[in-house]
Amino acid sequence: MKTTPTAKDRIILALDIDNEQEALGLVAELGGLVGMFKVGHQLFTAYGPDIVRKIRERGGRVFLDLKYHDIPNTVAKASAEAVKLGASIFNVHALGGLDMMKAAVLSSRETADKCGVPVPTLLAVTVLTSMSERSLRRELKIMRSIQREVCHLGRLAQRAGMHGVVASPQEIKILRRAVRGDFVVLTPGVRPLWAAKDDQERIMTPAQAVAAGADYIVIGRPVLKAADRQAAVTRILEEIEACGKTEARDRKSDERASPEINTSLNTERG
Ligand code: C5P
Repeated sequence: MKTTPTAKDRIILALDIDNEQEALGLVAELGGLVGMFKVGHQLFTAYGPDIVRKIRERGGRVFLDLKYHDIPNTVAKASAEAVKLGASIFNVHALGGLDMMKAAVLSSRETADKCGVPVPTLLAVTVLTSMSERSLRRELKIMRSIQREVCHLGRLAQRAGMHGVVASPQEIKILRRAVRGDFVVLTPGVRPLWAAKDDQERIMTPAQAVAAGADYIVIGRPVLKAADRQAAVTRILEEIEACGKTEARDRKSDERASPEINTSLNTERG
């Protein structure tokens, strides 16, 4: 049975910085407050797989955000390396297709088995939040709406055996309806009310994203740019926890109000 993750488990700090010492300093400073650290193209291109090893040596878990998109054989081999490196989460582009995603899943399982390590959570990137419906239509000739495309790719990813998807906060609810059972949704584009929007447009607060059904939220600048980074993370944790308590309270009063409705809901969720 799936256990509810803590607020800490849900937060992934994006290490979007160009300096290894600073990145490792953040791991030391915030390791007790966040669940994972995201290593993306910038840090990985500058420092290579060693940066992942160093974060892990310091007790940090890593989301390797390299969004593999290539022929199935190449993605399978890259996936095997991500598993050996000890990534807790890594991702591929759903637009790489069913066979590519299946190859990533199979290779990930086989490698984990061979090395005696846990299978990482394997996520598919649906539609990049930087893409508009207009660019999908004009450049990629994808005629359906972003939401329909995201749901389609989410279902395709589930068919391939992927564990979940990366999607914008606006798409979480509709995605939850499109896919079955325990399917992980990880979302960037979250902004606490007290933080600057930066270049993110379609945003939600961390608490709203979790309430909408996000399992993980990726957050960078609101923490990285804060004068007191620990205080910023603590505030986000408190907001998520407060939202969880309100939800639990609402559920209890719903149960009291109509036990039969709730029983059927629980049955549906399995
Ligand atoms: O600083 P900020 O909180 O906006 O960082 C969000 C992180 O999530 C960045 O690393 C960004 O690259 C990533 N991301 C995103 N939107 C996507 C996919 C990834 O903001 N669609």
